[in-house]
Amino acid sequence: MEPKEIDWERLNLIIDKNKGEKWGLIPLLQEVQETFGYVPPESIDLIASALGLFPSQVQGVVTFYSGFALKPKGKYVLRVCQGTACYVKGGRSILRMMKKETGLEVNETSPDYQFTLETVACLGACFLAPTMMVNRAYFGKLSPAKVTSVLAQYKKDEVER
Ligand code: FES
Repeated sequence: MEPKEIDWERLNLIIDKNKGEKWGLIPLLQEVQETFGYVPPESIDLIASALGLFPSQVQGVVTFYSGFALKPKGKYVLRVCQGTACYVKGGRSILRMMKKETGLEVNETSPDYQFTLETVACLGACFLAPTMMVNRAYFGKLSPAKVTSVLAQYKKDEVER
């Protein structure tokens, strides 16, 4: 599966809606991110000129906030916690297991755009350590067996489609 082609008409509609609203940069970027799954680098100049900003300012915001991505991510973003509480409870072996199961290194996306593997500093659920998220779903008290079964749900979903 290739990443979605950029729907320029849709992108221009989003940008036009926010034209001239300097304060609207973050909401605009959020809408672009939600619509396309990332902020296409080709859109930076358009967004900047619509809002009266420099492209470097837009680029700076996109790269500063981890919620924005300049590359398409997988359908499922796997975030494995490597914070202290998770680390001492085996977070490192959970990450190793995830790499083995997905064949991905950290910050890589599978060629079929099914998975992106990331690490985070803390998911705010330390009492469930070690933890991970798949998109917005939390999984805690992970063990290697649990990692396999969590991933199987999402791999199965891939097979069903
Ligand atoms: S350190 Fe992992 S959830 Fe806080």
